[in-house]
Parts: sequence; structure tokens; C-alpha cells
Amino acid sequence: MVSPEPKRFFSVLDSSVEKNGGVKTAQGVCAHIEFKDINFQYSASGENILKNVTFSIQPKEIVALVGRSGSGKTSLVNLLMRFYPLETGNIFLDGHDVHEYELTEFRQYFSYVGQHVVLFNDTVANNIAYGPLNGRMSREDIVRAATMAHAIEFIETLPQGFDTVIGENGSLLSGGQRQRLALARAILKNAPVLILDEATSALDTESERFIQDALDKFMHQCTTLVIAHRLSTVKQANKIIVMEKGQVVEIGTHEELLAKNGHYNRLYEIH
Ligand SMILES: Nc1ncnc2c1ncn2[C@@H]1O[C@H](COP(=O)(O)OP(=O)(O)OP(=O)(O)O)[C@@H](O)[C@H]1O
Ligand SMILES: [Mg+2]
Repeated sequence: MVSPEPKRFFSVLDSSVEKNGGVKTAQGVCAHIEFKDINFQYSASGENILKNVTFSIQPKEIVALVGRSGSGKTSLVNLLMRFYPLETGNIFLDGHDVHEYELTEFRQYFSYVGQHVVLFNDTVANNIAYGPLNGRMSREDIVRAATMAHAIEFIETLPQGFDTVIGENGSLLSGGQRQRLALARAILKNAPVLILDEATSALDTESERFIQDALDKFMHQCTTLVIAHRLSTVKQANKIIVMEKGQVVEIGTHEELLAKNGHYNRLYEIH
């Protein structure tokens, strides 16, 4: 059976709500991001699930977004990547409102690994080097990215290795294997902004530890927004944004937030 996720993903990507105009392009530099007074609701009648969200991310900074399930973390990332239109507030990328960018070019700014991995009925290699990267990356580069994402171990066991066709939305793969392919894709793309939204949640503890080591190094290369439940990932962030019910309730480093003895402590039950 085909999962409904890819359909939804494409309907969002292809939706006409986003105008495809603008001038700016990604230049392979680390980006600066600013969220300003973001209020957001999914439907006109629904309640605001993001309320007055304001914070910025400096180039090369690692910012961790933490908060209970449903606090609005993924929604904020979806708005940043223009998967939904923003009606109140602004998001700036390198000083320009995100809506000023031409949409296809805009997407080149982001390496993204989310909670739901989208794969295509194509070969493993083409799933890693996908979109504009397709045909432009050497097999060597693809293998290197797969190795960093610890995907090489299972790819080598597939009947045709990197040339194995993985089925509709990767239906022949496990959740953890799909997530490793998505990580390899993000590593290969090496965009100005890396977004990891529970990027290792489908992995077992051992695989997660291996991949986390690789990601920890990779995260320092460019501007990174990471949503994670693992305290070790969160601790190394330059800045931690704590969200509750759609609002930013605390901002600081691990040490600063510990000293506050507030939301962050309760979230991680640190005493
Ligand atoms: N596509 C959608 N349509 C309508 N409501 C949505 C949609 N996606 C999320 N929501 C709602 O928005 C709120 C915030 O959800 P969001 O996915 O941003 O939370 P989250 O902090 O990422 O949670 P989690 O840690 O479980 O991933 C929730 O109340 C959720 O039910
Ligand atoms: Mg989420």
C-alpha cells in the first residue's frame, strides 16, 4: 500500500499559494535567519499554533528547538521553508524576506531531514543525489555521503547496491534505512542551512549514536536548526529555543537555561 505522505508533500510543494518570483539565489554561504513576530494558524477557524515567535540565527550557529510534542517546532520549520504561506510576521533569510526569493532557488538553501522521509521510486544513488544534484554528483561523492550517514552498510546488502530501485516512496526499506538515505541526501547537498527535525528518530539506539557522531561534525559546517529530544545534541547548540504551546518561553545556552531552573529543566527533568 502506498503511504499518503508523499502525496501530501507534493501537494504542498506544488501548491499555488507560493508565488514563484524574486531575484535572490543561494550562494553556498552560511545563511542568517530571522523570525519576526510570527503568528500562524493552519486554518482560518483554527487557533494560533505559533504566537509572536521572534528569534534569529547567526551564520554558522547551531540552534536547537525544543519543546513538548505539539508545541509548534515542525510548524516553524515548515514556515521557514515556505511549505505554508505566512500571513502575520516575517521570516528573513540573509536580510531578505523569504518571499522575495525565487522558489526553486530558495529550496537550494536548505538541506532538510524531517520526521517523514520522502523518497522516490528510483535507484538508491538517485535518491541521494536528487533534484538539481541529479547527474551532477560523482559516484564517489554519493558513496562518501552514504558512508557518513552510515547508510553504506545496508546499501551494500541490496541486490544492485546503489543501483537498486527502492520502490514507491522507498517501500522496500525500513524506517531507519529511509532516514539514513535522507541524511545522506542532506550531507551531499551541503546547503547554507541544515535543518534536522528529529532526523534520527526512526533509528535504533546504536545506529543513532553512530550517526549522531557524524552529524555532530557536519552540523558545525553551516547554519543549523536542529529539533531533537536528545539532550547531548541540544547541549552543544549555541542557542536553545524552548517552545511551549506555540510560544518561545526561554532562549539561552544549556548552562544559562539550567541556571533558570524553568521550562528547560522540566523538559529534561534536570535537577
Ligand atoms: N498540517 C496540519 N494541519 C493542521 N494542524 C496541524 C498540522 N500540522 C500540525 N498541526 C497542529 O499544530 C500544532 C503544532 O504541531 P507541530 O507539528 O508543529 O508540533 P511539534 O512541536 O513539531 O511536535 P512533535 O514534537 O510531536 O513533532 C499541533 O497542535 C498540531 O496538531
Ligand atoms: Mg515535529
